[in-house]
Amino acid sequence: MHMKICKTVEQMRLASRTAHRAGKRVGFVPTMGALHEGHLSLVRAAKARSDVVAVSIFVNPTQFGPKEDLAKYPRPFERDCELLENEGVDLLFAPSAEEMYPKGAVTWVEVEGLSQKLCGRSRLGHFRGVTTVVSKLFHIIEPDLAFFGQKDAAQAAIIRRMVHDLNFPIEIVVCPIVREPDGLAMSSRNAYLSPQEHKSALVLHRTLTEIQSLFAHGERNSARLIEAGKKVLAQEPGVRLDYLGIVDPDCLEPITDLQDQALVAVAAFVGSTRLIDNLVLRAI
Ligand code: PAF
Repeated sequence: MHMKICKTVEQMRLASRTAHRAGKRVGFVPTMGALHEGHLSLVRAAKARSDVVAVSIFVNPTQFGPKEDLAKYPRPFERDCELLENEGVDLLFAPSAEEMYPKGAVTWVEVEGLSQKLCGRSRLGHFRGVTTVVSKLFHIIEPDLAFFGQKDAAQAAIIRRMVHDLNFPIEIVVCPIVREPDGLAMSSRNAYLSPQEHKSALVLHRTLTEIQSLFAHGERNSARLIEAGKKVLAQEPGVRLDYLGIVDPDCLEPITDLQDQALVAVAAFVGSTRLIDNLVLRAI
């Protein structure tokens, strides 16, 4: 079957309601396009758990700061469509900015507290833009399940909280990070990196694995683990740390007593490209 491309809210809502009326479970993968294997892993997870798979491609202006990369964000729409067709996606929602944000829209969805943590501290208003657009997409598509990547662990925590607080009848599925063979976490922004910057960017993963290795050898002091991670990162000139934290994966509060599940999250600028990565600490 051919993938149906919906450009308007009305077309998308109709397509999704038609699927529901036929008794189908709709799985939804929200994206900003420039698709890579990470996105495709979400599509495959959605296919495995739903009858109809809907994907959205929308570069959401409200989650970019005034000095960020909205204008230059890659938009290879034809190629993205081909990739999604090949994965057997049923419905693609690709609205314009005017369709999603008609003139005069003034309503926001904000998850207080969590939205100011990790990336929310350095990207003011970012998560408010994410939760607003994801709420709108949820209302338009009304999926049974929605799939997000663990690479943006803070986003996943914030969406889980929003779905719980606002009673969205949607199961949130978070899928593992997909990495390049050299360890770099897949991201649409990797396309900005020169070959030298790509090499430098590997330090993010090395920082995380150093912390994991010390943790596995018994280190339970957060501050010492973070110091050790910062030392690894500092060895790479051209990489500037934004944050490195060890936090609770649900409330995103720093953890000092490392007995429970802890998320190590890092963000850094490689040249002018801001990248993020994370892992959940394991005792073995
Ligand atoms: O993770 C992303 O690509 C975006 O934040 C999302 C969830 C598609 C909302 O614009």
